[in-house]
Amino acid sequence: MSFEGKIVLITGASSGIGAAAAVYFAQQGALLALVGRNAERAESVAAKIRDSGVEVEPLVILADITVDSERIISETIEKYGRLDVLINNAAFGVPGSIETTRIEDYDAIFSTNVRGTFLLTQLAVPHLLASKGNIVNVSSVCGMRTFPILLAYCMSKAALDQFTQCVAVDLADRGVRVNCVSPGVVDTNFHEITLGFNKDSVEYAAIMDQYANIHPMKRIGQTDECVNAIAFLANENTAAFITGTLLTVELSIVERMFISLI
Ligand SMILES: NC(=O)c1ccc[n+]([C@@H]2O[C@H](COP(=O)([O-])OP(=O)(O)OC[C@H]3O[C@@H](n4cnc5c(N)ncnc54)[C@H](OP(=O)(O)O)[C@@H]3O)[C@@H](O)[C@H]2O)c1
Repeated sequence: MSFEGKIVLITGASSGIGAAAAVYFAQQGALLALVGRNAERAESVAAKIRDSGVEVEPLVILADITVDSERIISETIEKYGRLDVLINNAAFGVPGSIETTRIEDYDAIFSTNVRGTFLLTQLAVPHLLASKGNIVNVSSVCGMRTFPILLAYCMSKAALDQFTQCVAVDLADRGVRVNCVSPGVVDTNFHEITLGFNKDSVEYAAIMDQYANIHPMKRIGQTDECVNAIAFLANENTAAFITGTLLTVELSIVERMFISLI
């Protein structure tokens, strides 16, 4: 799917789905602004792009979307003069129910997953209006399904779903599309970070087994499967008449997920 010459800004590009998207979009001819906080991981994504045969270096912006939104947009525009696609992918979660979620964690989750995304999008909109570009938000099935151990994260993703649909309506008549990809469980660093289990541990493997069972296809997803959905929605040839869509990849089979943390 060609993105030849398109300027694509990806947050959370230093790991997981965002990193896989960075490699894919680079291979399809996009010129990239990649946002992440971890310099080593961000550099390894840039190296992967190089190793895949792409000669154009991405712009790597080491930044935190909770505080650096203005710098992220200004460095992108300074370098490329334009923005065609914004992929709001950076997010994280902390386990907790209504009884156990610390308010500091709630605030941090909303500051990144909702407020940071809101502000970055607000600053990107004038540039997207100028280019008739589009936005793809990376949400989660947790925005649509209940998940007892991830209250604040689920709430933040429900907010992102509504954000997607409201902004889609705000901008549709001026030629800017806004869509959302909502992954099920995907094999990335996310669960290690969120749940605090080492990826090689027995506990981690047991939770992944439980996760596999909540999906109709009885397996967890891969980053490339999410990237294909992101690219489909971001591309004018495949999705020109699609806006405000929440595309699940793939939906949980159950309304409520009852996962035990061992
Ligand atoms: N993996 C899943 O099962 C799953 C399922 C549904 C939805 N999702 C969603 O998919 C998206 C990507 O997650 P992933 O699975 O790829 O997770 P991941 O491997 O943990 O990657 C998360 C990325 O977000 C970045 N990030 C987090 N907070 C940030 C901040 N304040 N400022 C800038 N960057 C920040 C991280 O940057 P650093 O590395 O630099 O810290 C990292 O690049 C998220 O929106 C997540 O909610 C994931």
